[in-house]
Amino acid sequence: MGLVGKIKAQRHASLEELVEILSSARYDEALFKAAHEVRQRYSHPAIHLKALLELSNICAKTCFYCGLRAGNRELKRYKIPLQEALRIAQRAIDFGYQTIVLQSGESHDYETAELCELIHAIHRRGVRITLSLGEKSFEEYQAYKEAGANRYLLRIETTDPRLYATLHPHMSHQNRFECLKNLQKLGFETGSGSLVGLPHQSLESIAHDLLFFQESDFDMVGIGPFIPAPHTPLEHEKGGDFHTSRKVMALLRLLMPYINIPATSAMETLHPQGRFLALQSGANVVMPVITEGETRTLYQLYPGKGSISDDPQNSYAKISTQITSLGEGISLESGDSQRFILRNHHASNP
Ligand code: 5AD
Ligand code: SF4
Repeated sequence: MGLVGKIKAQRHASLEELVEILSSARYDEALFKAAHEVRQRYSHPAIHLKALLELSNICAKTCFYCGLRAGNRELKRYKIPLQEALRIAQRAIDFGYQTIVLQSGESHDYETAELCELIHAIHRRGVRITLSLGEKSFEEYQAYKEAGANRYLLRIETTDPRLYATLHPHMSHQNRFECLKNLQKLGFETGSGSLVGLPHQSLESIAHDLLFFQESDFDMVGIGPFIPAPHTPLEHEKGGDFHTSRKVMALLRLLMPYINIPATSAMETLHPQGRFLALQSGANVVMPVITEGETRTLYQLYPGKGSISDDPQNSYAKISTQITSLGEGISLESGDSQRFILRNHHASNP
């Protein structure tokens, strides 16, 4: 059995084995094939569609890679009023989405009580709610949970403390780890993730990220290439590449067969068939943006984002057709990861 076969069977890899696979093209074909098989066998075999609503592009943080960073004065900022957000969410639910993902830059532009009101109003409509609002206090996370939020996404971005410090001035890596622990403690279906191809990021560092995700037993993990964004300190740096990101994603699937892995929009942006290739190498989730009008183009984490031609007026039907034409089914279930379902099953049947 080759190295890929061994990792697939054992769901375990050493740091050196991960680096070996990442640094050689020799394993690629077997790796993508194995990741696809594992996704079909252990995760939900059909693709989950989740509607991504980008509430606000206002951010107080200054992550070096991100177009929304506070220092970028070239970007027009917006904040969708909550009634409007509810209307957009309701339309997505009417189209057939079973999950609404509420994402925004990290700020306190919405009061916690306001957000809880929105969460509660969407929750009452019978769908799952995923939040991606950044680092918050335990109490804030708890309030979101009590209002009806089910899941939370917070990427660690990189587990390398030195790299993290150079890219996130005045931010605490430790606090980010704490936030992830708090989310798990509160019973959120918890997602993390990382960027691939950051300046000075080694393959060892990426392998460490993979082992961290596995050790932390997350329910969802998103992997995306770094794409240099204008008006940021990294605008002239070289970006991450699609192929390496795809390999990282495929390895993740071998290590964590039951989790949800999105075909990230950064992968879709870098390659015309990015979505399809990601779904064929381990990914099982697509998150079409449902934000409407001008706001759609203003959530510019990196250039090209939001240019994917999924049409919010009619996105669910169109995307379902596109995905089924690739030979994949569309899940009609809630979108919980198999990992989360199994964990809760064990908790209620010890
Ligand atoms: N390229 C790729 N991904 C980015 N993100 C932010 N900026 C960029 C960029 N320039 C990702 C981060 C963040 C998520 C919301 O978007 O990983 O967690
Ligand atoms: Fe803000 Fe998130 Fe961008 Fe960092 S990655 S600047 S926290 S929106």
